[in-house]
Amino acid sequence: MTKPGTAINSRKGLKICGGITVIFLIVLAIVIPTLWFTTLKPKDPEITVYPQGLENINPFSMLSMRNMPLNMTITINNHRNVGSFKFKNSTAYVTYRGDVVAEVPIRQNFILAHGKLNITISTVLMVSKMIRNRLFFNDVGAGSLNLTATAALHGKVNLFNLLKMRATAFSTCDISFSIFRRQVKSICKSKIKL
Ligand SMILES: *[C@@H]1O[C@H](CO)[C@@H](O)[C@H](O)[C@H]1NC(C)=O
Ligand SMILES: *[C@@H]1O[C@H](CO)[C@@H](O)[C@H](O)[C@H]1NC(C)=O
Ligand SMILES: *[C@@H]1O[C@H](CO)[C@@H](O)[C@H](O)[C@H]1NC(C)=O
Ligand SMILES: *[C@@H]1O[C@H](CO)[C@@H](O)[C@H](O)[C@H]1NC(C)=O
Repeated sequence: MTKPGTAINSRKGLKICGGITVIFLIVLAIVIPTLWFTTLKPKDPEITVYPQGLENINPFSMLSMRNMPLNMTITINNHRNVGSFKFKNSTAYVTYRGDVVAEVPIRQNFILAHGKLNITISTVLMVSKMIRNRLFFNDVGAGSLNLTATAALHGKVNLFNLLKMRATAFSTCDISFSIFRRQVKSICKSKIKL
């Protein structure tokens, strides 16, 4: 036989316990998405692509070239992310008015949480292909040669070794070479997709 008092006490205890569980779940339901969106969710990396030494090229000397060796510096800055990013071998493409004029092989690599990667890759600018474009001389006359570099890095984001997610970092850079000012400007937009 149970005493009536004990039954009431345990029912009360159940209610309190249930109440605490509900509050706990509500707090979790608020805290986890907040943490996810403010801190944990992978943010867009900052990827920049810069052609080294392009500003020293005389466009008229390009006329006698077929291919021009060119070093591309690619910087991937992961400073906004609490997760690391590991990506597979990939190729970035440089286009001039829609024609692919350079291929830049990017080797598989790993970027730490809050880390930065700065790599220089040797490639070849297919000058003859640029010159063959009927707008090349127009562009030289107008004073600027504009290139576009695009890259897609497929890989995985790793959060504290607890959560691994497939992710792809996309980057597009508008590279503008002002011929008379001997200046190269590269403006990049990057995005990560899970
Ligand atoms: C590219 O970089 C390599 C190594 O740093 C260097 O030896 C080479 O001269 C550079 N090439 C050009 C075209 O700047
Ligand atoms: C990635 O590229 C490097 C050098 O080009 C090569 O040695 C390596 O085997 C490649 N890795 C994969 C997984 O294909
Ligand atoms: C990356 O390295 C290149 C040379 O390899 C250097 O010119 C450039 O300033 C570096 N960029 C950053 C952001 O460290
Ligand atoms: C090349 O880019 C520069 C800077 O973004 C711009 O001012 C110029 O009009 C562009 N030239 C062409 C031919 O698109």
